[in-house]
Amino acid sequence: MIPSRVIETKRDGGVLGRGDLQSFLDGYLQGAVPDYQMAAFLMATYFRGLDASEAEVLVRAMLGSGSVLDLSWLDGPRVDKHSTGGVGDKVSLALAPLAAELGLYVPMMSGRGLAHTTGTLDKLEAFPGFRVELTLDEFEDVLGRVGCAMMGQTSEIAPLDRRLYALRDVTATVPVISLIAASIMSKKLSEDLTGLVLDVKVGSGAFIPEEARALSLASAMVGIGEARGLPTVALLTAMDRPLGRAVGNALETAEAVACLRSEGPADLRELVLAEASEMLQAGFPGLGEAEARGRAEATLASGRALERLARLVEAQGGDPSIIDEPHRFATAPERSMVVALEAGTVLGIDPLPLGQAVVTLGGGRRRLGESIHLGVGFELAVAPGDCVEKGDPLGTVHALDGAGAAMGEAVLRSAIRIGDGVADLRPLVSHRVSAAGVIRY
Ligand code: URA
Repeated sequence: MIPSRVIETKRDGGVLGRGDLQSFLDGYLQGAVPDYQMAAFLMATYFRGLDASEAEVLVRAMLGSGSVLDLSWLDGPRVDKHSTGGVGDKVSLALAPLAAELGLYVPMMSGRGLAHTTGTLDKLEAFPGFRVELTLDEFEDVLGRVGCAMMGQTSEIAPLDRRLYALRDVTATVPVISLIAASIMSKKLSEDLTGLVLDVKVGSGAFIPEEARALSLASAMVGIGEARGLPTVALLTAMDRPLGRAVGNALETAEAVACLRSEGPADLRELVLAEASEMLQAGFPGLGEAEARGRAEATLASGRALERLARLVEAQGGDPSIIDEPHRFATAPERSMVVALEAGTVLGIDPLPLGQAVVTLGGGRRRLGESIHLGVGFELAVAPGDCVEKGDPLGTVHALDGAGAAMGEAVLRSAIRIGDGVADLRPLVSHRVSAAGVIRY
């Protein structure tokens, strides 16, 4: 295998032989193929895609590059959920403790911010002291004691994906259906799950914005899971506006905590409940949809999931007292409110520029391994469909300095479209994809 030939074949739209692709991937892991050649291959893949046999080689190589957990010693169903990534998507932070409180084990391995999206690991680090880097033994210990555990991929879990994920983030090669599907499913298949729920974002803030392609991504991941004996369900959920009101790591963490307190935005609460209900049905097959939803609602209302979050934070070395004192979450020194210059209806809020601006503000990475500022971001004061008067607040920018605040103000103002008429939005959950087929809601 000659690396430049592999790149050339992909660049020119050819299909790689299994052996060549496998050797190329092995060479990358062993250091014989450097980052720059892998980056060129990823860019060729961005334009040419991978066919089913190439994608299968990639999933197998990612999975085989590391260990697979054995969680069969746990005395209950093991169900995780994973999102393809969106702006303001803090669902996992509220969902994992809620699902654990509902009787599931949730071994959640998550990622850091990717391109214009914030990552669960960065948001968890907003709890002072929280350790996202655990050994697998520590992870299993927390999982057994608390019912959920949240960590990053260790070097043992799908290390090929771990390295490719970081490289894709900084080479503009994230939005490729087969790469996303292989990346997510290799991690999830390593978790020894009995059920998996996927949240596939669709809309301008998603990596795959178009509905038809998002459906292909959902079907690809469901297919990979089912082919390996993992019952997998995917929900297509709206990313044509940010989820909730907070965009930026610590701001999102605080909003997830509010959700577990039965406060916070309605769309976040609805998605958390919808996904909890799916996880419950995956864990306890035969449980009806209405019963699952009812249990999820009652448990969220009880406040017990918030206590479970506190146990998780403590078990992973963090300070749970911040949950009751959210003003202690990391903040940025400069705050600037943006107000409406005219009256009208909020017709839309474009998530992509807001997510990109969080990176520019210092809340996301531009280079591998860069450190980030957890406190920067946006707090929206309005949602699509709201009516505003001239002078009403639209949102607040949290920035490190005046220049950042000025940039953030301009981005926030142009992301929020105000006019006459009604907001034309995607349904929060539009499709359900499973082995049984696609249901449109
Ligand atoms: N999340 C992942 O884990 N991988 C991707 O490629 C995109 C989102």
